[in-house]
This record gives sequence, structure tokens and C-alpha cells, in this order.
Amino acid sequence: MRIQAPLIAALALAAACSPGESSNPAPVQQPQPRLTESPSFGRMPNGDSVSLITLRNQHGIEVRIMPAGGTILSLKTPDRTGAIDDIVLGFDQVEPYLQKTNPYFGSVIGRSANRIAKGRFVLDGKTYQLATNDGENHLHGGNRGWDKVLWTSEPFQHAEGVGVALKYTSPAGEEGYPGTVTATVTYTLTDQNQLTVDYRATADAPTIINLTQHSYFNLGGAKTTDILGHELMLNADQYTPVNATLIPAGELAPVENTPFDFRTPTAIGARINDQNEQLTRGKGYDHNFVVRRTGPGLELAARVVEPATGRLLEIATTEPGIQFYSGNFLDGSITGKGGRVYPHRSGFCLEPQHYPDSPNQPTFPSTVLRPGEEYQSQTVFTFGVVK
Ligand code: GLA
Repeated sequence: MRIQAPLIAALALAAACSPGESSNPAPVQQPQPRLTESPSFGRMPNGDSVSLITLRNQHGIEVRIMPAGGTILSLKTPDRTGAIDDIVLGFDQVEPYLQKTNPYFGSVIGRSANRIAKGRFVLDGKTYQLATNDGENHLHGGNRGWDKVLWTSEPFQHAEGVGVALKYTSPAGEEGYPGTVTATVTYTLTDQNQLTVDYRATADAPTIINLTQHSYFNLGGAKTTDILGHELMLNADQYTPVNATLIPAGELAPVENTPFDFRTPTAIGARINDQNEQLTRGKGYDHNFVVRRTGPGLELAARVVEPATGRLLEIATTEPGIQFYSGNFLDGSITGKGGRVYPHRSGFCLEPQHYPDSPNQPTFPSTVLRPGEEYQSQTVFTFGVVK
């Protein structure tokens, strides 16, 4: 089933990118191929080689993906003047992506995005203990989550766009999770300036699953200044307040009259230093927002504009929640692409997903996957510009 994403300024972007009129004939340029695959971006610790897949569309958008972690390495989009720049954080080689110090730059997160209290949950009367890799809690799939494994990759080019299907089989017991899970994550870049992420998974025994994409965006480009001036709209009337270890208390709290109200576009930095217990616990924003739904299917969850460059990002998803993380743990200790240091809050994440700690919160939408069922999820990133 294909669901149409909300319409946005994609057309404005197309216009900004169309060649201007000129009396001098422009030199003939070979169009870049829509899809390229290079066999050897790097190697896994066991020597397996990691390829590099590059997707391009007709408006100058380019996405580079590696099958290690299903990672988006770079994402280049035009600004309002047509200048192309990289709008995601990351590294130049495979190796730093596989280290503990990598804050999940650009990767697919699984089996369970976000935190599970004490790494423990009960399913069908049986208690499971997952790896605890965030203090006493389980975070983003454990010590070696799906961001650190090598997926197989099948690049494709068809009428709708170019992309790559990534597959991974997670063995029973991996990081403590029950059941073998077979997952496919498909990235597709279209000429409508959309990058679609389709998630599918099945299991041979009851288990839990909650996948997301963990890109750190800075729509200002690769200059790595902070993201506090980005104007964020979150389509959420409620969020899930957290305890001191960032586990939700269970309540869906109204955003009204709090620094969590992004229903009208507001600079990320406008209230981030307000006296507010939730902001203190998150060291800034690090919270799950409840997407306001008009039905099942794709719903607009977030819209972000970077005023200086005019770049615009919209995120639509089938997921019930979106984690907004304002890059609070970035502290200048990581050197990324091109030797650039990533200062405090120089990237933000908007991670569509089920709510944190869902396996222990009976009132939250379920993350249980049973044999015979198929887990399906879709997120669409749309890139544009505002004038
Ligand atoms: C998620 C979490 C954050 C942090 C980052 C990675 O977004 O919510 O608390 O762990 O990942 O650093």
C-alpha cells in the first residue's frame, strides 16, 4: 500500500533547482547516475566488506547509505539559493560507527528503539532480561544493536525512485530478545524530494520490535553550528514525561502551557533553558511526543525550518510517537566528517517510533510481534525550502 505523504514545499524546491535563463550556453554536463554502488567503503571487524550505495534524484538530492547499521552517511539537499550541503552528522569511515562512543549517527535502530526499564519485560508470562547498556536500562537494541550489524543490501531502480533494500536476520537470544526476527528496511529516494523508509519484520516466536531511523539533522549544513535556531513544529498535543532515568511514568501529559508545546513553529532554543523538571531530566529535549492522528496511515509528525538557509524538512509516519532529542549529549568530544568537531546540540534527532518502555506500559500501543504477523512501519522525510 502506498500512502501519499503530505504536500509541502517540494515544488518550491524544484523551482529553486531549475536552471536559470542565460544567454551563454552552459557547458554540457553529464547527468550523475541515479544509483551507484561502490563495493568497498570499508570493512567490518571480521573483515566483511561494507559497500556504499549512493542515491540521487533530479533535483540534486543525494543520499549515501552503507549496509553496516543501515546507516545514512550523508544527505545532501539544496538550500533556497540552490547551494547543496550535507544536512546530517556522521563519520567518514565505517570504524567509528561501530564504537560505543557513536551516538547512533544515521543508523537503523533495532530491535527496540529507546529505553526499556531495567532491560526487563514480561511476555506471555515469561520474563526476559535484555542487555542493559544505559545505566540500568536497555537502550536502542543493546550493546550490539542493529546499528552495529552488517545488513545485506539490494539496490534497485524503478519508476517510483531509486533505493536499497536492506535485510537482517536477528538470531533468537540476540541482546536477550526472544525469537528469530527477519527484517527488511527499504530506503527509496524519489523525484518528489522524498526519502521513504519502509520497515517490515516477522518473527518465529513472540517477541517485541520497535524500529526507527536515528539521523542527526542540521539543516544549516555541515558548518556544525548549533541547531537552536531551527524552527520546529511537532504535531502533538501530548508527550510522555519521564523519570530520572528517562523512562516514561505512563502518563500522557498535555503540552499546553509547557516548553513542550511545538504545535506552532517555535525555535528549538526558545525555551530549552527554562526552569522545567522535564527539561532538566532530559538535559534539554529528549522526549517522546504523541503524534496527533486523524486515522491510521501516514500522519505529519514534524516540520522543521532552518531560517538562514530556508531548508525545510517534514516527517510523516505511521508510528504513534516521535522522539525529539536536541543533541544534548553532544559535547565536542566527537570528531566527525571532514574533521569537524560536533559541539553541544549541533544536531537534532526526530525518531518516529512507539513510545519508550512500551513492553512495560500496558496503556501504550503494543510493540509485540507474534509469529504469523508482519510488523510494518513507514516514515517519509520530505525535503524542501521556504522562501
Ligand atoms: C536517543 C535517546 C537519547 C540518546 C541518544 C543517543 O535519542 O533518546 O537519550 O541516548 O539516542 O545519544
